[in-house]
Amino acid sequence: MQPKTQMRLVRLWHAALVGGFAVAYLTGDEDTYAMHLFSGWLVVGLVALRFILPLKLNRPNRPRYFTWSILAALGMAGAAAVSGVGADVLPWLEDLHEGLAEMSLWVALAHVAAALVVFKGRKWLARLKPTAVVGALVLLLAASQTALAADAARDAILATYAGQAKAENPAFAGFSAQRGEALYRAKNSVNPDAASCAACHTDDPTRAGRHVKTGRVIEPVAVSANPKRFTDAEKVEERFVRDCKSILGRACSATEKGDYVTFMASR
Ligand code: HEC
Repeated sequence: MQPKTQMRLVRLWHAALVGGFAVAYLTGDEDTYAMHLFSGWLVVGLVALRFILPLKLNRPNRPRYFTWSILAALGMAGAAAVSGVGADVLPWLEDLHEGLAEMSLWVALAHVAAALVVFKGRKWLARLKPTAVVGALVLLLAASQTALAADAARDAILATYAGQAKAENPAFAGFSAQRGEALYRAKNSVNPDAASCAACHTDDPTRAGRHVKTGRVIEPVAVSANPKRFTDAEKVEERFVRDCKSILGRACSATEKGDYVTFMASR
């Protein structure tokens, strides 16, 4: 094979590996598990391919640390991906997989830093064009995908509450962020430790809260600050049951729940 063709192949392979790794890294949570599995297998395949393919690249004046950074990045990405495949079968590998995945991100960044030094100035960008393009595309796609998936899940939860609200009250005419805010800030007298939802979730829902009793940090509840909010129907319902009972001394109606979520989605 011509050296030029070889180099082109390697760049394409590199772009695919970066893309696969980025997608796998960004889709670690439950909602996007199929995509996570697919991209993880892609990384396994691509790392294996690199060791199988008999490419002899002629790069006489490549500094040794750069070669090491390549081997380390490959090894870590491979280990992370293989442990992930393993964890799919053996759940106790999960922690190891997460640790390796975090580490491999740092090793990959070190490799990028080494590459920046080796391909000084702007030259590196020209050499890594496919990788840069794929990287940017993948990031955009993954960001929009996760945001879209989260929005769809939240809409589904709201639709369920709307159906229940209509059943509870035929005059129901949609949720209101204003009513949600009033519910959020209203002072009650049931719980001596926490008068309002804001007691734990703070006056400004875009900020992190703190459990009034345990002192444990609670992530922001406003969707703008925490896009994962109100996307897991079971967890949302569970918390409504618990928090409404402990703060209001009663269950929240479907209208109240929908108002609350609508308020948080508007923040
Ligand atoms: C005593 C502290 C405390 C108070 C007061 C409180 N919550 Fe919570 N809330 C929590 C904790 C802890 C969580 C779970 C941790 C998390 O989701 O970050 C939570 C989570 C939630 C969730 C889940 C959100 C999601 O994305 O899954 C909802 C819904 C919720 N709270 C509603 C309310 C409502 C409504 C009120 C007021 C009636 C309220 N909370 C008051 C502590 C509190």
